[in-house]
Amino acid sequence: MATMQDNQTWSGRFNEPVAELVKRYTASVDFDKRLALFDIQGSLAHAQMLASCGIISAQDLKDIQRGLGQIESEVVSGDFVWQLDLEDVHLNIEKRLTTLVGDAGKRLHTGRSRNDQVATDIRLYLRSAIDDITLLLKGLQTSLLDLAQHHTHTIMPGFTHLQVAQPVSFAHHLMAYFEMCQRDVERFCDARRRVNRLPLGAAALAGTSYPIKRELVAELLGFEAVCQNSLDAVSDRDFAIEFTAAAALTMTHLSRLSEELILWMNPRFGFIDIADRFCTGSSIMPQKKNPDVPELVRGKTGRVNGNLVALLTLMEGQPLAYNKDNQEDKEPLFDTVDTLTQTLRIYADMMGGITVKPEAMRRAALQGYATATDLADYLVKKGLPFRDAHETVALAVRFAEQRGVDLAELKLEELQEFSNQITDDVFRVLTLEGSLAARNHTGGTAPQQVEAAIARARKLLAS
Ligand code: ARG
Repeated sequence: MATMQDNQTWSGRFNEPVAELVKRYTASVDFDKRLALFDIQGSLAHAQMLASCGIISAQDLKDIQRGLGQIESEVVSGDFVWQLDLEDVHLNIEKRLTTLVGDAGKRLHTGRSRNDQVATDIRLYLRSAIDDITLLLKGLQTSLLDLAQHHTHTIMPGFTHLQVAQPVSFAHHLMAYFEMCQRDVERFCDARRRVNRLPLGAAALAGTSYPIKRELVAELLGFEAVCQNSLDAVSDRDFAIEFTAAAALTMTHLSRLSEELILWMNPRFGFIDIADRFCTGSSIMPQKKNPDVPELVRGKTGRVNGNLVALLTLMEGQPLAYNKDNQEDKEPLFDTVDTLTQTLRIYADMMGGITVKPEAMRRAALQGYATATDLADYLVKKGLPFRDAHETVALAVRFAEQRGVDLAELKLEELQEFSNQITDDVFRVLTLEGSLAARNHTGGTAPQQVEAAIARARKLLAS
């Protein structure tokens, strides 16, 4: 009979050691060691509960606390020796604990399984990641507000179909992204409620025969509640999927903003400049300054979307309860957290380093008959039905286009050819400023409204 040196925690019933390739294939320690501090945190709470319920002695608890304390320092300092033979983060820590404190270390696993342990670790990890991410999102929102603040009167063309539609302020445009980020924050906060529930106590799948107190562990770990069904507790990863979906949406928002930054930086637009520290040059074309950061954000959105699909696919078709498939939840999840965290960090900074070129924005707004709707609205206010007004203005635009001038550059008599309702007060509505000021309601682009929106946003961030 072969000796069972490799994994003594469970190899007792096996007749031959696990094949080298299989060991490598099934081990997760290379990536789940990242959960080490959360694993220790969960174990400390579990041990404290075991002692308080009389399942282990007070002395065992002390030994476990001392051992885990030392392991924590080793992990933090980088001195902890991770062993692939020990499969995962949980067995590595448990083995070290037993080496350090003897039998007490072996008693730690009473009343629990790696199945509820790992589910707890991921939830602790994700809760902390969500807290970091919401803070970073708020940082980005602050950058957007700081930039918007100066541009409630900076006029740019608003686009639909990427064609000039109506004038808006640059601040109004930025505030659209503030709103998206705000919904992102709300989504993460909402997902956090479902992350923040305790699986421990579910043990392998059916619960445990020891007289445990799950609520005590939940309280010690700051969980809002305990998972209500042991099979569900160890098996579902919907909370991770939900988080990744929220992350994919945030990345999608940032990808859209990135696309705009890239367009705006193109000399054909020339609306903005991105600080040099966020761009790179070309090795062959000396004139190039490339917006690499926004391009990468756009590209990395694909990664996060891929992670979402990976997690969804991992889950579907799994019978209850825990299956090893779930070990595959970690890399997509970690990658999502890393990608989003790095992206948000860099983005807040990049938005702070943008140079705005109001003259170029204004020139573009003047080019595309952006105030045509205002002329139609003007005619409606003089009594024309909107559809007729629309047709009248379309003809006027065609005329101006043939002349190569803007509507505001037409003479009064020329405009009156299209409608005798037009008088010289028309020129007020044909200006960009007039157009903005007219949209004076909640959510509109009038400077006064955007200033109010910024003030509301500041209050929201401070709350
Ligand atoms: N490394 C495993 C995971 O990440 C831990 C749980 C393993 N449980 C088991 N019975 N093999 O899912």
